[in-house]
Amino acid sequence: MTEFATRVENVSISGIREVFEAAGDDAINLGLGQPDFPTPAHARRAAVEAIESGQTDAYTSNKGTPQLREAIAAKYDRDYGIEVDPGNTIATSGGSEALHLALEAHVDPNQEVIFPDPGFVSYDALTRIAGGTPKPVSLRDDLTLDPAAVEDAITEETAVFIVNSPANPTGAVQSEADMREFARIADEHDVLCISDEVYEHIVFEGEHHSPLKFAETDNVVVVSACSKTYSMTGWRLGWLVGSGDRIDRMLRVHQYAQACASAPAQFAAEAALTGPQEPVAEMVGAFEERRDVVVDGLEDAGLEVPTPSGAFYAMPRVPEGWCDEVLDRGVVAVPGEAFGSNGEGYARLSYATGMEELKAALEIIDSATAAVR
Ligand SMILES: Cc1ncc(COP(=O)(O)O)c(C=O)c1O
Repeated sequence: MTEFATRVENVSISGIREVFEAAGDDAINLGLGQPDFPTPAHARRAAVEAIESGQTDAYTSNKGTPQLREAIAAKYDRDYGIEVDPGNTIATSGGSEALHLALEAHVDPNQEVIFPDPGFVSYDALTRIAGGTPKPVSLRDDLTLDPAAVEDAITEETAVFIVNSPANPTGAVQSEADMREFARIADEHDVLCISDEVYEHIVFEGEHHSPLKFAETDNVVVVSACSKTYSMTGWRLGWLVGSGDRIDRMLRVHQYAQACASAPAQFAAEAALTGPQEPVAEMVGAFEERRDVVVDGLEDAGLEVPTPSGAFYAMPRVPEGWCDEVLDRGVVAVPGEAFGSNGEGYARLSYATGMEELKAALEIIDSATAAVR
Protein backbone atom coordinates (compact mmCIF):
# COMPACT_ATOMS: atom_id res chain seq x y z
CA MET A 1 0.00 0.00 0.00
CA THR A 2 1.19 3.51 -0.70
CA GLU A 3 2.21 5.13 2.60
CA PHE A 4 1.74 8.79 3.32
CA ALA A 5 4.67 11.17 2.97
CA THR A 6 6.47 11.76 6.28
CA ARG A 7 6.50 15.51 5.58
CA VAL A 8 2.71 15.47 5.64
CA GLU A 9 2.34 12.97 8.47
CA ASN A 10 4.30 15.46 10.59
CA VAL A 11 1.63 18.12 10.17
CA SER A 12 -1.78 18.24 11.82
CA ILE A 13 -4.84 20.37 11.17
CA SER A 14 -4.71 23.65 13.11
CA GLY A 15 -5.77 23.45 16.77
CA ILE A 16 -7.90 26.54 16.13
CA ARG A 17 -10.46 24.47 14.20
CA GLU A 18 -10.85 22.09 17.15
CA VAL A 19 -11.86 24.98 19.41
CA PHE A 20 -14.45 26.17 16.88
CA GLU A 21 -15.91 22.70 16.63
CA ALA A 22 -16.26 22.49 20.42
CA ALA A 23 -18.21 25.79 20.58
CA GLY A 24 -22.00 26.02 20.71
CA ASP A 25 -23.90 27.70 17.84
CA ASP A 26 -24.68 30.82 19.87
CA ALA A 27 -21.17 31.24 21.31
CA ILE A 28 -19.43 34.61 20.89
CA ASN A 29 -16.49 33.80 18.68
CA LEU A 30 -13.29 35.65 19.59
CA GLY A 31 -11.32 33.09 17.63
CA LEU A 32 -11.70 34.51 14.14
CA GLY A 33 -8.69 35.53 12.07
CA GLN A 34 -10.50 37.73 9.60
CA PRO A 35 -11.94 41.27 9.64
CA ASP A 36 -15.71 41.55 10.12
CA PHE A 37 -16.03 44.29 7.46
CA PRO A 38 -17.24 44.07 3.87
CA THR A 39 -14.75 44.11 0.99
CA PRO A 40 -14.73 47.71 -0.36
CA ALA A 41 -17.51 48.18 -2.94
CA HIS A 42 -15.13 49.38 -5.68
CA ALA A 43 -13.09 46.17 -5.38
CA ARG A 44 -16.18 43.97 -5.66
CA ARG A 45 -17.40 46.01 -8.62
CA ALA A 46 -14.08 45.70 -10.46
CA ALA A 47 -14.30 41.91 -10.22
CA VAL A 48 -17.93 41.87 -11.41
CA GLU A 49 -17.13 44.12 -14.38
CA ALA A 50 -14.09 42.02 -15.28
CA ILE A 51 -16.17 38.84 -15.14
CA GLU A 52 -19.02 40.30 -17.19
CA SER A 53 -16.71 41.64 -19.87
CA GLY A 54 -15.05 38.24 -20.25
CA GLN A 55 -11.64 39.39 -18.99
CA THR A 56 -11.44 36.62 -16.40
CA ASP A 57 -12.17 33.59 -18.57
CA ALA A 58 -8.54 32.70 -19.25
CA TYR A 59 -5.31 32.16 -17.31
CA THR A 60 -3.47 35.37 -16.60
CA SER A 61 0.31 35.50 -16.85
CA ASN A 62 1.82 33.21 -14.19
CA LYS A 63 3.03 36.16 -12.16
CA GLY A 64 -0.35 37.91 -12.37
CA THR A 65 -1.76 40.63 -14.61
CA PRO A 66 0.71 43.43 -15.46
CA GLN A 67 -1.80 45.97 -14.07
CA LEU A 68 -1.99 44.24 -10.69
CA ARG A 69 1.79 43.94 -10.45
CA GLU A 70 2.11 47.65 -11.32
CA ALA A 71 -0.37 48.38 -8.52
CA ILE A 72 1.60 46.25 -6.04
CA ALA A 73 4.88 47.97 -6.98
CA ALA A 74 3.25 51.43 -6.76
CA LYS A 75 1.94 50.57 -3.30
CA TYR A 76 5.48 50.00 -1.94
CA ASP A 77 6.57 53.37 -3.31
CA ARG A 78 3.48 55.13 -1.93
CA ASP A 79 3.54 53.51 1.51
CA TYR A 80 7.26 53.16 2.26
CA GLY A 81 9.27 54.84 -0.49
CA ILE A 82 10.57 51.42 -1.54
CA GLU A 83 11.25 50.95 -5.22
CA VAL A 84 9.89 47.63 -6.46
CA ASP A 85 10.08 46.39 -10.05
CA PRO A 86 6.62 45.05 -11.02
CA GLY A 87 8.50 42.15 -12.65
CA ASN A 88 9.76 41.18 -9.19
CA THR A 89 6.32 40.43 -7.80
CA ILE A 90 4.07 37.37 -8.01
CA ALA A 91 0.33 37.50 -7.30
CA THR A 92 -0.53 34.44 -5.21
CA SER A 93 -3.53 32.69 -3.77
CA GLY A 94 -3.43 34.66 -0.52
CA GLY A 95 -0.52 35.27 1.80
CA SER A 96 -0.70 31.54 2.55
CA GLU A 97 0.47 30.52 -0.92
CA ALA A 98 3.12 33.24 -0.85
CA LEU A 99 4.57 31.78 2.38
CA HIS A 100 4.45 28.29 0.89
CA LEU A 101 6.30 29.37 -2.27
CA ALA A 102 8.94 31.26 -0.31
CA LEU A 103 9.68 28.23 1.88
CA GLU A 104 9.53 25.67 -0.94
CA ALA A 105 11.95 27.71 -3.03
CA HIS A 106 14.53 28.29 -0.30
CA VAL A 107 14.52 25.37 2.17
CA ASP A 108 16.34 22.12 1.47
CA PRO A 109 15.48 18.94 3.43
CA ASN A 110 16.60 19.24 7.08
CA GLN A 111 17.55 22.89 6.78
CA GLU A 112 16.30 25.02 9.64
CA VAL A 113 13.61 27.69 9.63
CA ILE A 114 13.52 30.10 12.58
CA PHE A 115 10.17 31.67 13.50
CA PRO A 116 8.42 33.28 16.47
CA ASP A 117 6.80 31.10 19.15
CA PRO A 118 3.99 31.84 19.74
CA GLY A 119 3.60 32.53 16.02
CA PHE A 120 1.26 32.05 13.08
CA VAL A 121 0.39 28.34 12.76
CA SER A 122 1.51 28.05 9.12
CA TYR A 123 5.20 28.70 9.82
CA ASP A 124 5.73 25.37 11.57
CA ALA A 125 3.49 23.40 9.18
CA LEU A 126 4.87 24.88 5.93
CA THR A 127 8.43 24.33 7.16
CA ARG A 128 7.66 20.64 7.68
CA ILE A 129 5.88 20.39 4.31
CA ALA A 130 9.04 21.82 2.70
CA GLY A 131 11.04 19.07 4.48
CA GLY A 132 12.73 21.59 6.77
CA THR A 133 13.22 21.60 10.53
CA PRO A 134 11.22 24.11 12.58
CA LYS A 135 13.29 26.25 15.01
CA PRO A 136 10.78 28.21 17.11
CA VAL A 137 12.24 31.04 19.21
CA SER A 138 10.61 32.61 22.25
CA LEU A 139 9.48 36.23 22.42
CA ARG A 140 10.31 39.17 24.67
CA ASP A 141 7.94 39.92 27.59
CA ASP A 142 6.15 42.46 25.38
CA LEU A 143 5.62 39.62 22.85
CA THR A 144 7.86 41.14 20.17
CA LEU A 145 10.60 39.05 18.52
CA ASP A 146 14.10 39.92 19.72
CA PRO A 147 16.60 40.12 16.81
CA ALA A 148 19.26 38.86 19.25
CA ALA A 149 17.21 35.69 19.84
CA VAL A 150 17.04 35.14 16.09
CA GLU A 151 20.79 35.74 15.68
CA ASP A 152 21.55 33.28 18.52
CA ALA A 153 19.39 30.61 16.86
CA ILE A 154 21.21 30.81 13.51
CA THR A 155 23.39 27.78 12.70
CA GLU A 156 25.12 26.44 9.60
CA GLU A 157 21.83 24.73 8.76
CA THR A 158 19.64 27.85 8.86
CA ALA A 159 17.95 28.64 5.55
CA VAL A 160 15.33 31.16 6.62
CA PHE A 161 14.05 33.22 9.53
CA ILE A 162 10.51 34.58 9.52
CA VAL A 163 9.51 37.95 10.91
CA ASN A 164 5.83 38.84 11.28
CA SER A 165 4.80 42.38 12.16
CA PRO A 166 2.11 43.25 13.12
CA ALA A 167 1.92 39.75 14.47
CA ASN A 168 -0.61 36.99 14.71
CA PRO A 169 -1.33 35.84 17.47
CA THR A 170 0.11 38.64 19.64
CA GLY A 171 -0.82 41.92 17.92
CA ALA A 172 2.78 43.03 18.60
CA VAL A 173 4.49 45.49 16.23
CA GLN A 174 8.28 45.41 15.76
CA SER A 175 10.14 48.73 16.06
CA GLU A 176 12.11 50.28 13.22
CA ALA A 177 15.31 49.47 15.13
CA ASP A 178 14.32 45.78 15.26
CA MET A 179 13.56 45.74 11.55
CA ARG A 180 16.96 47.29 10.80
CA GLU A 181 18.52 44.54 12.90
CA PHE A 182 16.61 41.81 11.06
CA ALA A 183 17.89 43.25 7.77
CA ARG A 184 21.46 43.34 9.12
CA ILE A 185 21.19 39.72 10.32
CA ALA A 186 19.91 38.60 6.91
CA ASP A 187 22.79 40.43 5.23
CA GLU A 188 25.59 39.43 7.58
CA HIS A 189 24.64 35.78 8.06
CA ASP A 190 23.54 35.39 4.45
CA VAL A 191 20.22 33.82 5.43
CA LEU A 192 16.84 34.67 3.96
CA CYS A 193 14.43 36.80 5.99
CA ILE A 194 10.81 36.18 5.03
CA SER A 195 8.87 39.21 6.24
CA ASP A 196 5.18 38.38 6.64
CA GLU A 197 3.45 41.74 6.40
CA VAL A 198 -0.18 40.73 5.87
CA TYR A 199 -1.28 43.04 8.74
CA GLU A 200 0.95 45.92 7.56
CA HIS A 201 -1.84 48.52 7.52
CA ILE A 202 -3.45 47.57 10.81
CA VAL A 203 -1.16 49.53 13.13
CA PHE A 204 -2.41 51.79 15.96
CA GLU A 205 0.82 53.12 17.48
CA GLY A 206 3.90 53.93 15.47
CA GLU A 207 4.31 52.74 11.92
CA HIS A 208 4.97 49.55 10.03
CA HIS A 209 8.55 49.18 8.83
CA SER A 210 9.68 46.53 6.39
CA PRO A 211 13.17 45.00 6.58
CA LEU A 212 13.07 45.17 2.76
CA LYS A 213 13.83 48.87 3.10
CA PHE A 214 16.98 48.31 5.15
CA ALA A 215 18.60 45.20 3.64
CA GLU A 216 21.70 45.75 1.52
CA THR A 217 21.54 42.29 -0.09
CA ASP A 218 18.57 40.52 -1.70
CA ASN A 219 18.07 38.44 1.47
CA VAL A 220 14.56 39.74 2.22
CA VAL A 221 11.38 38.39 0.64
CA VAL A 222 8.11 40.13 1.52
CA VAL A 223 4.78 38.35 1.82
CA SER A 224 1.61 40.42 1.91
CA ALA A 225 -2.03 40.20 0.86
CA CYS A 226 -5.33 41.96 0.37
CA SER A 227 -6.87 39.57 2.89
CA LYS A 228 -6.67 41.63 6.09
CA THR A 229 -6.12 45.18 4.78
CA TYR A 230 -9.16 45.11 2.50
CA SER A 231 -11.16 42.44 4.30
CA MET A 232 -10.73 40.11 1.34
CA THR A 233 -9.90 36.78 3.00
CA GLY A 234 -12.35 34.91 0.77
CA TRP A 235 -10.89 36.32 -2.45
CA ARG A 236 -7.55 34.58 -1.90
CA LEU A 237 -5.17 37.20 -3.20
CA GLY A 238 -1.70 37.87 -1.86
CA TRP A 239 1.74 38.51 -3.29
CA LEU A 240 5.47 38.12 -3.02
CA VAL A 241 8.15 40.75 -3.50
CA GLY A 242 11.79 39.71 -3.89
CA SER A 243 14.82 39.92 -6.12
CA GLY A 244 14.62 38.70 -9.71
CA ASP A 245 16.52 35.51 -8.87
CA ARG A 246 14.30 34.68 -5.92
CA ILE A 247 11.09 35.50 -7.81
CA ASP A 248 12.29 33.24 -10.62
CA ARG A 249 12.66 30.28 -8.20
CA MET A 250 9.38 30.94 -6.40
CA LEU A 251 7.64 31.24 -9.76
CA ARG A 252 8.73 27.70 -10.63
CA VAL A 253 6.70 26.39 -7.70
CA HIS A 254 3.78 28.73 -8.36
CA GLN A 255 3.65 27.88 -12.06
CA TYR A 256 3.30 24.15 -11.47
CA ALA A 257 1.18 24.24 -8.31
CA GLN A 258 -1.16 27.10 -9.16
CA ALA A 259 -0.58 28.42 -12.71
CA CYS A 260 -1.85 31.85 -11.68
CA ALA A 261 -3.89 33.49 -8.94
CA SER A 262 -7.65 33.59 -9.58
CA ALA A 263 -8.32 36.17 -12.30
CA PRO A 264 -11.44 37.80 -10.74
CA ALA A 265 -9.54 38.22 -7.46
CA GLN A 266 -6.68 39.89 -9.33
CA PHE A 267 -9.06 42.50 -10.77
CA ALA A 268 -10.58 43.12 -7.32
CA ALA A 269 -7.10 43.43 -5.77
CA GLU A 270 -5.95 45.93 -8.39
CA ALA A 271 -8.99 48.10 -7.63
CA ALA A 272 -8.47 47.73 -3.87
CA LEU A 273 -4.83 48.80 -4.12
CA THR A 274 -5.36 51.71 -6.52
CA GLY A 275 -8.78 52.94 -5.35
CA PRO A 276 -9.86 55.00 -2.33
CA GLN A 277 -8.14 53.89 0.89
CA GLU A 278 -10.76 55.36 3.28
CA PRO A 279 -12.35 51.97 4.01
CA VAL A 280 -8.98 50.82 5.40
CA ALA A 281 -8.71 53.86 7.68
CA GLU A 282 -12.29 53.32 8.92
CA MET A 283 -11.66 49.67 9.69
CA VAL A 284 -8.38 50.39 11.48
CA GLY A 285 -10.11 53.13 13.52
CA ALA A 286 -12.80 50.64 14.59
CA PHE A 287 -10.17 48.04 15.52
CA GLU A 288 -8.33 50.59 17.65
CA GLU A 289 -11.50 51.47 19.59
CA ARG A 290 -12.18 47.80 20.16
CA ARG A 291 -8.56 47.17 21.16
CA ASP A 292 -8.91 49.76 23.92
CA VAL A 293 -12.16 48.22 25.19
CA VAL A 294 -10.66 44.70 25.13
CA VAL A 295 -7.43 45.65 26.91
CA ASP A 296 -9.39 47.57 29.59
CA GLY A 297 -11.82 44.68 30.01
CA LEU A 298 -9.06 42.09 30.33
CA GLU A 299 -7.16 44.22 32.83
CA ASP A 300 -10.35 44.81 34.82
CA ALA A 301 -10.77 41.03 34.93
CA GLY A 302 -7.30 40.87 36.52
CA LEU A 303 -5.49 39.51 33.46
CA GLU A 304 -2.06 40.69 32.39
CA VAL A 305 -1.98 41.67 28.71
CA PRO A 306 0.69 43.52 26.71
CA THR A 307 -1.11 46.31 24.81
CA PRO A 308 -1.21 45.16 21.19
CA SER A 309 -0.17 47.90 18.74
CA GLY A 310 -1.54 46.26 15.62
CA ALA A 311 -3.50 43.48 13.87
CA PHE A 312 -6.75 42.59 15.70
CA TYR A 313 -5.59 40.21 18.40
CA ALA A 314 -4.81 40.46 22.10
CA MET A 315 -2.84 37.80 23.95
CA PRO A 316 -3.40 37.85 27.71
CA ARG A 317 -1.70 35.53 30.20
CA VAL A 318 -4.43 33.26 31.53
CA PRO A 319 -4.72 30.83 34.46
CA GLU A 320 -4.93 27.09 33.85
CA GLY A 321 -8.34 25.95 32.63
CA TRP A 322 -9.29 29.48 31.51
CA CYS A 323 -10.05 28.71 27.84
CA ASP A 324 -12.31 25.77 28.81
CA GLU A 325 -14.10 27.90 31.39
CA VAL A 326 -14.81 30.76 28.96
CA LEU A 327 -15.86 28.23 26.31
CA ASP A 328 -18.29 26.58 28.75
CA ARG A 329 -19.78 30.02 29.34
CA GLY A 330 -20.15 30.69 25.61
CA VAL A 331 -17.01 32.56 24.49
CA VAL A 332 -14.50 31.11 22.05
CA ALA A 333 -10.85 32.01 22.66
CA VAL A 334 -7.92 30.11 21.17
CA PRO A 335 -5.48 28.52 23.66
CA GLY A 336 -1.99 29.97 23.24
CA GLU A 337 -0.41 26.54 22.75
CA ALA A 338 -2.15 26.35 19.33
CA PHE A 339 0.56 28.84 18.26
CA GLY A 340 3.58 26.99 19.69
CA SER A 341 4.71 25.54 22.99
CA ASN A 342 5.68 28.96 24.36
CA GLY A 343 2.06 30.01 23.91
CA GLU A 344 1.09 27.86 26.88
CA GLY A 345 -0.40 30.01 29.64
CA TYR A 346 -1.75 32.52 27.11
CA ALA A 347 -4.92 32.81 25.01
CA ARG A 348 -5.53 34.62 21.74
CA LEU A 349 -8.59 36.83 21.53
CA SER A 350 -9.59 38.31 18.19
CA TYR A 351 -11.55 41.54 18.29
CA ALA A 352 -12.78 41.22 14.70
CA THR A 353 -16.24 41.12 16.30
CA GLY A 354 -18.84 43.87 16.84
CA MET A 355 -18.54 46.10 19.93
CA GLU A 356 -21.75 44.81 21.60
CA GLU A 357 -20.61 41.20 21.32
CA LEU A 358 -17.17 42.15 22.58
CA LYS A 359 -18.63 43.85 25.64
CA ALA A 360 -20.84 40.84 26.36
CA ALA A 361 -17.82 38.53 25.95
CA LEU A 362 -15.75 40.67 28.34
CA GLU A 363 -18.43 40.34 31.03
CA ILE A 364 -18.36 36.57 30.63
CA ILE A 365 -14.55 36.64 30.72
CA ASP A 366 -14.66 38.63 33.96
CA SER A 367 -16.78 36.03 35.76
CA ALA A 368 -14.97 33.06 34.16
CA THR A 369 -11.61 34.46 35.27
CA ALA A 370 -12.85 34.85 38.83
CA ALA A 371 -14.11 31.25 38.74
CA VAL A 372 -10.74 29.72 37.74
CA ARG A 373 -8.49 31.88 39.93
C1 LIG B 1 0.45 36.18 10.04
C2 LIG B 1 -0.34 35.66 8.90
N1 LIG B 1 0.27 35.45 7.73
C3 LIG B 1 -0.38 34.99 6.66
C4 LIG B 1 -1.73 34.71 6.74
C5 LIG B 1 -2.41 34.15 5.51
O1 LIG B 1 -3.28 35.06 4.98
P1 LIG B 1 -4.16 34.76 3.68
O2 LIG B 1 -5.57 34.70 4.13
O3 LIG B 1 -3.87 35.93 2.78
O4 LIG B 1 -3.69 33.49 3.08
C6 LIG B 1 -2.43 34.90 7.93
C7 LIG B 1 -3.85 34.57 8.06
O5 LIG B 1 -4.43 34.48 9.11
C8 LIG B 1 -1.71 35.41 9.05
O6 LIG B 1 -2.32 35.63 10.22
